[in-house]
Amino acid sequence: MGKITKTIDELQSADQPGDYHIPVLLQETISALDIKPSGVYVDCTFGGGGHSREILKKLDENGRLVVFDQDEAARINVPSDARIIFVAQNFRYLQKFLRLHKFQQVDGILADLGVSSHQFDKAERGFSTRFDAALDMRMDSRQPTTAAEILNTYTEQRLHKIFEKYGEVTNAKTLAKSIVEHREISLFKTIDVFKKNLHGIVKGNPNKYFAQVFQALRIAVNDEMGALEELLNQAVPVLKTGGRLVIISFHSLEDRMVKNFFKHGAVQEQEADDVYGTRQESPLSILSKKPITASQAELKINSRSRSAKLRVAEKK
Ligand SMILES: C[S@@+](CC[C@H](N)C(=O)[O-])C[C@H]1O[C@@H](n2cnc3c(N)ncnc32)[C@H](O)[C@@H]1O
Repeated sequence: MGKITKTIDELQSADQPGDYHIPVLLQETISALDIKPSGVYVDCTFGGGGHSREILKKLDENGRLVVFDQDEAARINVPSDARIIFVAQNFRYLQKFLRLHKFQQVDGILADLGVSSHQFDKAERGFSTRFDAALDMRMDSRQPTTAAEILNTYTEQRLHKIFEKYGEVTNAKTLAKSIVEHREISLFKTIDVFKKNLHGIVKGNPNKYFAQVFQALRIAVNDEMGALEELLNQAVPVLKTGGRLVIISFHSLEDRMVKNFFKHGAVQEQEADDVYGTRQESPLSILSKKPITASQAELKINSRSRSAKLRVAEKK
């Protein structure tokens, strides 16, 4: 209980910017990072800055915190603190921007994947099935591909794969076929029209069905699996020996990728083999045999923590 009481106190503290986002597994994350006061840390997914503020509290005046967020909107949450550097970029460019800021290696890397509550609750961002808005779903509004673009231009086969793989939509094939049929009459622009046109093929609870469809589209729009793979591959060379890698994921595809990477040091198992086909030892020691999940107390105050899984590894 002590742990969670502290979390609630943190949330209510004056420096918390409104209700942008409630950080999940806050104390568990901080303890997994095992922060050295004058170390260099990276928060790949700054968002509302809940995790970052807690990291800053553990750093002394020599410590540094580099934070990434591909969404410019997150910048408003950056505290005025000389130890923090905000990089408004995708974390798939981790190594490049660390070099640019003259950091060769770091003591810890955190990624709390997915979208923030702020992004989800802003109707105009197009992430939520609860509102009518343009079918956007971009975390980074500078990038060209929106959800509408995907729905209106991808082949039926590609759409089928997206809904099947990223959303586990039961009738992904029928859905892809219906989308292609509908867009021949009129292109998709808004959430309400999309939902209305596809109402006839919904399987089961419509809210749950569209939540799965939207999750799949969001993952595709933001190339979330591709970005995670690039982050993981760069994390190992970027970490110092003994440095910590902490990843919080929210769906099984991400968690599986993280788990495999920690185990083999490669996303694709065969990449862990050398040219002679011999399996190389993973460069990481796994510190969480099972993923860490939210306590009952956290589940009560933050429903988003329900699907959160934290995994932690240390560079050998
Ligand atoms: C779940 S929120 C993080 C919340 C944060 N830990 C907090 O305590 O407020 C995820 C944030 O990461 C950002 N994000 C997601 N994927 C990203 C990526 N590939 N590169 C950079 N930022 C990303 C999103 O824009 C969002 O603001």
